[in-house]
Amino acid sequence: MTTRDKYTIVVTSDRYGNERGGLEFEQELIDAVEDLDLTLSSRACISEDALISAAQGADALLVSTREAITRRVLENIPQVKVISRYGVGLDNVDLDAAADVGIVVTHYPGYCTSEVADHALAMILALNRRIVELDRSLRAGVWVQHGPATRTILGGPVQPLREQTLGIIGFGRIGQAVAARVTPFGVTILAADPYVDPETIRAVGAEPVSLEELLRRSDIVTIHCPLTPETRGLIDADALALMKPTAVLVNTARGPIVDLPALAQALQEGRLAGAALDVVDPEPLPAESPFYQMPNVILTPHSAYYSERSVDVVRRETLLEALQVLRGKRPRTVANPAVLEKVTLEP
Ligand code: NAI
Repeated sequence: MTTRDKYTIVVTSDRYGNERGGLEFEQELIDAVEDLDLTLSSRACISEDALISAAQGADALLVSTREAITRRVLENIPQVKVISRYGVGLDNVDLDAAADVGIVVTHYPGYCTSEVADHALAMILALNRRIVELDRSLRAGVWVQHGPATRTILGGPVQPLREQTLGIIGFGRIGQAVAARVTPFGVTILAADPYVDPETIRAVGAEPVSLEELLRRSDIVTIHCPLTPETRGLIDADALALMKPTAVLVNTARGPIVDLPALAQALQEGRLAGAALDVVDPEPLPAESPFYQMPNVILTPHSAYYSERSVDVVRRETLLEALQVLRGKRPRTVANPAVLEKVTLEP
């Protein structure tokens, strides 16, 4: 009988494989692995100290969005060979530090492109048609109290979507999927993405513009860039001041891209007509946040990624990609390619 290499996998995610959801899904996949001797455990944690403690003795970490995978953490988890991120965004992982200490970081981009694009579209349509606002006011008795006086019942103007201009910030997978979804509505589409060739933008019927022009001209702005040092606070008070007072903002990317106090102020002062936020900073949004009181704001709990299918895909692929690295093989995506100078992975 051949001996199999022994490895320990620790799930630090607070979403999957934790005490709420159980590890059955991951365990079933592991049980089917014949070439490695694997032990799986879960310890949902976020803080640096808790992560360092959870990762002692671990060979692989499966992480979510909120764990602080900082340089300090990475320098204190010597046995870890791979960190596999459930999902797309890598803003919570110090990729350079991981490369410095020889830890491979992998993730699974694309698992929820259509889910997020659908979610953004739903928010765009809901804001434009005032669906959530009307539903709330109807339940509060507005129709009954005021009779069929359309203007009173509607509580505000509704612009025809076909005459609106949609600005997409970040024209990658999700941004392009949003463009494809809104095209049949006859909307004018602008896109701001300094890293995408303008011809790629034009090829799908959108107009490449600067961020400033996008903010000035758009009736609806939807954010689909990653959170990076460059995009942190991208939509700050100055950016919001460029937007039309009739415009609305949709964020399904990352909370810190938008300066939330500045957004709250713009909405309160009527300098912006509405917002839809799937992501905020911090998450969850504190109970005292003014957004809960604003009828023109739609909130969802960082759920744009979610569908029954996307969750199964990301749970399976996150684990399988980590196993590839433990086998000394290259996973589909190495998010910190500089690590390959330190670690040899077979193709
Ligand atoms: P992607 O990498 O395909 O596209 C991102 C685009 O943003 C790229 O084209 C890039 O050039 C562009 N970009 C980078 N810096 C920019 C800047 N300063 N200004 C404008 N554009 C810039 O990524 P994908 O798959 O489209 O995902 C986008 C983001 O969506 C992820 O980074 C993640 O943070 C977020 N996301 C949110 C989810 C949710 O549940 N709410 C789920 C999945 C992703």
